[in-house]
Amino acid sequence: MTAVPHPVSRLRERRERAARAWNVHRGVVLAPAGLPVPIVGTDLFHDFHAHAEHYYLSGLAHPGAVLAFDPAEGWLLFTPQISIEEQVWTNASEPLESQKERSGVDRVYEISELRSWLERHRGDAVAVVGNHDLLHNPAGYGIESWDALELDVDEELSEHCSNVLSESRRAKDDAEIQAMRAAADASVAGHFLGIRHVRPGMTERQLQIEIEAEFFRNGSPRTAYGSIVGGGPNGAVLHFAPSSRHFADGEIILVDAGAEIDGYASDVSRTFPAGRSFTPHQADMYDLVLATQQRAIDNARPGVEYKDLHLRAALDIATGLRDLGILRGDPEALVDSDAHALFFPHGLGHMLGLATHDAGGCLAGREPSDRFGLKYLRADLPLQPGYVLTIEPGIYFIRALLTDPERREKYRDAVNWERVDSMLDFGGIRIEDDVLITEDGAELLSGALPRDRAGIEELRREGLES
Ligand code: GLY
Ligand code: MN
Ligand code: MN
Repeated sequence: MTAVPHPVSRLRERRERAARAWNVHRGVVLAPAGLPVPIVGTDLFHDFHAHAEHYYLSGLAHPGAVLAFDPAEGWLLFTPQISIEEQVWTNASEPLESQKERSGVDRVYEISELRSWLERHRGDAVAVVGNHDLLHNPAGYGIESWDALELDVDEELSEHCSNVLSESRRAKDDAEIQAMRAAADASVAGHFLGIRHVRPGMTERQLQIEIEAEFFRNGSPRTAYGSIVGGGPNGAVLHFAPSSRHFADGEIILVDAGAEIDGYASDVSRTFPAGRSFTPHQADMYDLVLATQQRAIDNARPGVEYKDLHLRAALDIATGLRDLGILRGDPEALVDSDAHALFFPHGLGHMLGLATHDAGGCLAGREPSDRFGLKYLRADLPLQPGYVLTIEPGIYFIRALLTDPERREKYRDAVNWERVDSMLDFGGIRIEDDVLITEDGAELLSGALPRDRAGIEELRREGLES
């Protein structure tokens, strides 16, 4: 995470809101950042990612730190100061004074103080949000064992605190939106470069490297998730890891890649031809996905249920595939039987923020459905101003689903299987943008990147001629 500071005033507001929502009278809430994860066979660690809840409340991302709340004392931060020997191999730790200034937490102590502070809370309820590795590896935080402390972690209170914190993190404040705009801008720059840069003969890995390098040149220290780059049939694997396969003229390429800035993710997908233009067949499918996405964007506004946007997208896809002679029958009946999910097997999108799939996308009390056409819907809530979500419909020809004998039997009459069998190498099309819900509609944070077919083909032409 880069050290772009969130204003102390915002951090204080977030903590005050969390404390009010937690409504803890006698007890403490601990929000650990998480411990570094060693890479086996080395003396190095995996890239550290502070737990979203710790980072959101403190603005800090030091491994091994714990933010604590006690209704009587207020907020405290316990943070490691590393030895000279450790400093020889890694960066120096940030001085306590600087952490105090950046976070606005007045009481900042070395982590070695945590144990005695907890001992003084014997008998109080202890809730843990943030990284729960504190419970499995207390020694990493300077605590010999939970048993020795004679403190009971209250699971119910922990869950309550986590849930209300997730709810209050859904609507982004201005500092968060600024970071998310910067992340989306870096993603747009990377995708622009990728769409222009690609050539038939290039490999998925080569394209990945160019796109990610552009993210990094635009201020992103790392990607928000493993970039997905799939040419031809590989585009039908929803989370395909780029390989050494070469792109061929005539096929389409699906890129789903996002930059992260200041811990905030962006998540953007585009699908474009390896050569100069889409074939008529690819163009029909592309326009269907685009029209589906556009309707969802047009309908996104406060009060609208995200699940309704998803179901409308499913109906648009079912109708379009019926018109293209791939599905058969009444589109509403096709959606009711989940036939559309053979080609659109994921949800319309998800909440976005301090993770690619952020802040518990289901309203309290709602459970994800286990219906084939709904079970990957990761957001089920009414939209509100400040929410940032993705809108990412897609159509894929996925061998595993389309050659499964059970599904072929179940959907025997709903699918033109002869057409489908001729398209098993088609791959997939996903168009994904990051959407900020405003007071009366939605703003595309990644809207500077062309989505329409003409705009994509124009970028391809410019690229091939440059
Ligand atoms: N990039 C992962 C997703 O779209 O959810
Ligand atoms: Mn996504
Ligand atoms: Mn994505």
